[in-house]
Amino acid sequence: MTSERVSGWRRRAYNIAALRAEARRVLPRAVFDFVDGGAGDEHTLRENVSAFDAVPLYPRPIGGAESRDLSTTLLGHPLSLPLIVPPTGLAGLLWPEGEAASARATAAAGSIYCLSHGSVFSMEALAQTGAAPRWMQTYIYRDRGLTRETAARAAEAGYEGLIVTIDTQLLGNRERDIRNGFVIPPRLSAGEVARMAFKLGWLWRMRNAIPDITFGNYRRPGSGEDLTALAQRMLTLTDPGMQWRDIADLRAAWKGPLLLKGVLHPADAAEAVANGVDGVMVSNHGGRQLDGVASAFEALPAVADAVAGRAAVILDGGIRRGVHIVKALASGADCCTIGRAQLWGLAVGGEAGVAHAFDILRRELDLAMGLCGLADVAAIGPEVLARPPRAAPPPPEAPASGNGAGEGAGDSVERVPETGGPAGPEPTRYGDWERKGRAIDF
Ligand SMILES: Cc1cc2nc3c(=O)[nH]c(=O)nc-3n(C[C@H](O)[C@H](O)[C@H](O)COP(=O)(O)O)c2cc1C
Repeated sequence: MTSERVSGWRRRAYNIAALRAEARRVLPRAVFDFVDGGAGDEHTLRENVSAFDAVPLYPRPIGGAESRDLSTTLLGHPLSLPLIVPPTGLAGLLWPEGEAASARATAAAGSIYCLSHGSVFSMEALAQTGAAPRWMQTYIYRDRGLTRETAARAAEAGYEGLIVTIDTQLLGNRERDIRNGFVIPPRLSAGEVARMAFKLGWLWRMRNAIPDITFGNYRRPGSGEDLTALAQRMLTLTDPGMQWRDIADLRAAWKGPLLLKGVLHPADAAEAVANGVDGVMVSNHGGRQLDGVASAFEALPAVADAVAGRAAVILDGGIRRGVHIVKALASGADCCTIGRAQLWGLAVGGEAGVAHAFDILRRELDLAMGLCGLADVAAIGPEVLARPPRAAPPPPEAPASGNGAGEGAGDSVERVPETGGPAGPEPTRYGDWERKGRAIDF
C-alpha cells in the first residue's frame, strides 16, 4: 500500500462512523455484513449506540486540567486509556493475519487484546508473535474436558485473563448472513463476483490468506477435517444447559483473572461475583445474539450497583465516540471495549487501521474530558451525567451460593440500506447456509 493511499483513508476516516464507511467500501458485501450486522431486526444493535444519546453530560469546565491523564488500571493491567479489544472471531477474514495485526496495534496502544475462540490464528500462534497482554475467550462446552483443556492451553501459552462468553450457547439469528448466504470458507455469489471490481484491494491482499482461513483453536493436526466439517463440529460444542457450578469449576481451575461476558441482569452479576469471577462484561454480544434485549449501556448501572466494586465492570457494546466512554465510566464501568470499531480499522488499514481507531477514540475522549473539566479517569463520576430514572429489572436476590451450587439464576450505527444488495427477490439460502456450517459466533 502506498503512503499516498494510506494518507487517503486516514484523512477520510476522521471518526469511527467514517472508518465504518471506509470498511464498507473495501470489504465484499457479505464480509462487511458479517461484521456489521446484528440479530433479527437489529433493534438491540442500534440501541447499543443510541442509548448513549438519551443521557446528556453536564460539564463543569472550571477546575479541569491543562492536559488530561487517560490512563487507568484493569485487573492489575495498566492501560493507556480505558479501552480494550474484546474477542472478535475470524478477524483474519478482514486482513491477512488479522488477529496478529490487531493484537500488535492493541499492544502498541497500551491496551489488552482478547483472542476469540473462533480466531484464524490459534492461541499458540498468536502467543508466538509476542504481542501482550493477551486474554483468551472460551465457552462452557458440552464436553467439560474441552473447557478445561482450552483453559490449560491458554495458561500454557501465557494468556493472562480468561473470558467466558455466556450469551452464545445458541447462535443468534443473523439475518444479513442468511440473506447473503455467508459461509466459511467464503463462497462468492455471482452478484458478489460482479461487485468484486470495487473490492480489488481486499481480493489482492487476501489472495494467499483465503485458502488458510480456518478456526485455528479447533483444528486437530493431522485430522484431515476440512473447514466445512470443522465449522459443523463447532456448532455442536457449546452447552445451552450450563450452570453456575460450571463457572465455579472454571474459577477453581483458572488462576488468573476470570471474566464473564454477556451479563445484562444484575442478579447474574451478583451471582458471578459470588462464584469468584473477577470481572463482568456488560454485553449483548454487540446486538448479534438476541434482538430485543437491553442495550449494554442501559443495563450497566444496575449491574455496576450489584457488583458494588467487588469485581471489574466492563461496558461491551456500542462504543463509537469518546463521549460514550465518558458516559459509560460515569455509569459505573471501569473500562469499555471496541469490537466493530477495531474491526473496521483492521479492514481498512490492518495494524495501522486498528491504531487509527484507537487514536480517534483517544483524541475524542481527551477532548470530552477536557471540556467536562475532568483531569483524569478517576474524576469521571455519576455527577457528570443526568440519568433519567430507569425501570430497573427485578432486584438481585442474595446469591444462591458462593460455590457454584446455585441454580443458574458522525452518525451512529446507520443501518445498511436494504436496497442495492443481494436482498429482495433473491431467495434466501437458509438451508444451504445451515448445512454448510454457519457456525458459531464469530
Ligand atoms: C465480527 C464479530 C465477531 C465476534 N466474535 C466474537 C467471539 O468470537 N466471541 C465473543 O465472545 N464475542 C464476539 N463478538 C462480540 C464482541 O466481542 C463484542 O461483544 C461486540 O463486538 C461489542 O459491540 P461493538 O461491536 O458495538 O463494540 C464478535 C463481534 C463481531 C462484530
